[in-house]
Amino acid sequence: MTARIIAFANQKGGVGKTTSAVNLAAALAQAGKLVLLVDLDPQGNASTGFGISQFQRRITIYHVFANEGMIEEAEVQTDLPNLKVVPANVDLSAAEFELGGRSKREYILRDKLQSRRELYDFIIIDCPPSLGLLTLNGLVAADSIIVPMQCEFYALEGLSHLLNTTDLLRKNLNPELQIEGVLLTMYDRRYNLTAAVEADVRDYLGSRVFNTVIPRNVRVSEAPSHGKPVVTYDKSSAGACAYVHLAEEIMARYDNTEQNKLDFIEKLESNNLDDGDTGSNVGNMDNNKDRDNNEDGDILQPAAKKSKKREEAKASGENISAETIESNNARIIESEKASSNDGNNSEKTPETEANTETNIEADEIDDKADNKDNKKATNTKADNAKTDNTKDWAA
Ligand SMILES: Nc1ncnc2c1ncn2[C@@H]1O[C@H](COP(=O)(O)OP(=O)(O)OP(=O)(O)O)[C@@H](O)[C@H]1O
Ligand SMILES: [Mg+2]
Repeated sequence: MTARIIAFANQKGGVGKTTSAVNLAAALAQAGKLVLLVDLDPQGNASTGFGISQFQRRITIYHVFANEGMIEEAEVQTDLPNLKVVPANVDLSAAEFELGGRSKREYILRDKLQSRRELYDFIIIDCPPSLGLLTLNGLVAADSIIVPMQCEFYALEGLSHLLNTTDLLRKNLNPELQIEGVLLTMYDRRYNLTAAVEADVRDYLGSRVFNTVIPRNVRVSEAPSHGKPVVTYDKSSAGACAYVHLAEEIMARYDNTEQNKLDFIEKLESNNLDDGDTGSNVGNMDNNKDRDNNEDGDILQPAAKKSKKREEAKASGENISAETIESNNARIIESEKASSNDGNNSEKTPETEANTETNIEADEIDDKADNKDNKKATNTKADNAKTDNTKDWAA
C-alpha cells in the first residue's frame, strides 16, 4: 500500500478547503480506506472539525516540523476507526518564520510523511489560505492537488494564479504534482453567476473539474460546531451525500482493477435504467438513492457541458491564459449586467442560457423561504457527465 497524498489548496480564503478536506477524509474512511488527515493550517480548523481538543494537540504538526516530535506521536485517533488526524494550532504560525533559514525547507513535510505512506490509502492535507512556506510544503509532499472553488466573480482569476503556481512548482520542486481536480463548493444554482462560472470552468478545464459539486447546505456549516464531519453529523443531508459522491469519484480512479471498472460502469448503467430519462448523474449511486428525500433535497450535480471548446481545452492542457480569464470575466460581467437590468435575478439571460445550454434543468425554487440553505434546490442534469466519466475510467 502506498498512500495517495492529496493537498487541498487555494490561496483564497473561505472557499471550502477545510470543509472539503475533513469530509472527503471522513467519507473515504467510511468507505473502508485508511486515511490520515494532516492539518497544515495554524487556524487548526480541520482539527476542530473532528472535535480534537487543545489537550489532544500537545504534539502537533508544528512539533513535527520543528523536530520536537515524531509524526506518529502527533496522530490523533478520531471517532472513525479508519481515520487519524495530525492536528495543528496557532503555534504553527511561527513555523513560517522559524523554518525560513533551514535548507530544503520546502521538503520537510514530504520527508516526514515518507514513513506514513505505507500505512495509509490516502493522506489528505489541508493547506492554509496563502501560498507561503506551509502550503509549499503541502504541495511538495502531495501527489495531487484539489482546488476548492466557489462560483463567484473573481474565482477564475484566482484559479489561474494557483494553476500557474502549480506549474512553477512542477518545474522546480515537485515534477509529479498532478491536478486531482477543481471542486465547485457552496454551489447555489439559483444565481446566474454560478451557472456562468461553472460553464466557463468546465469549458476550459474539462475533465479536471470534478463531476461532483458540493451544494451550499446548512448542515455542512453546522457540523464543525459539533466536532463532527457532516458525513457523520447528518449523513442523509445533501452536503453529506455530495461528499460521499466525491469520495466515490476519487476512489474510482485508484481502485482501478478491471473488476472495479466493470462494477463502476454497471452502477452507472443501472442508475441510468432506474432513472429513466430523468438524466440523473454519475454521483447518483446506490448508497445515495435516498437523497431525493432529504430535507434539503438539493444534491446539485454538475452539468458537464460537451462543447468543442471543452475538447480543445482538454487537449491543450490546464493553463488558462490571462486573455481567456479576461474574456471570461467580461462575459460574466455582461451576463450579470443583463440579469440586473431584468431586475429579476432568477431569470436567465440569453447569454447565460447559451452558456449553460440544457445542462441544468430548472426546477421550482421556493423564493419565499427565509433561510436560503434550507430551501429546496434542484437536481441538475448531467447526462454528459455520465458519458464522460464512463469514458474516462473505462478507457
Ligand atoms: N457546502 C457548504 N455549505 C454551507 N456552508 C459551507 C459549505 N462549505 C463550507 N461552508 C462554510 O464556509 C466557511 C468557510 O469554509 P472553510 O473553512 O472550509 O473554508 P477554507 O477555504 O478552509 O477557509 P480558510 O481559507 O480560512 O482556511 C465555513 O464557515 C464553512 O462552515
Ligand atoms: Mg481552512
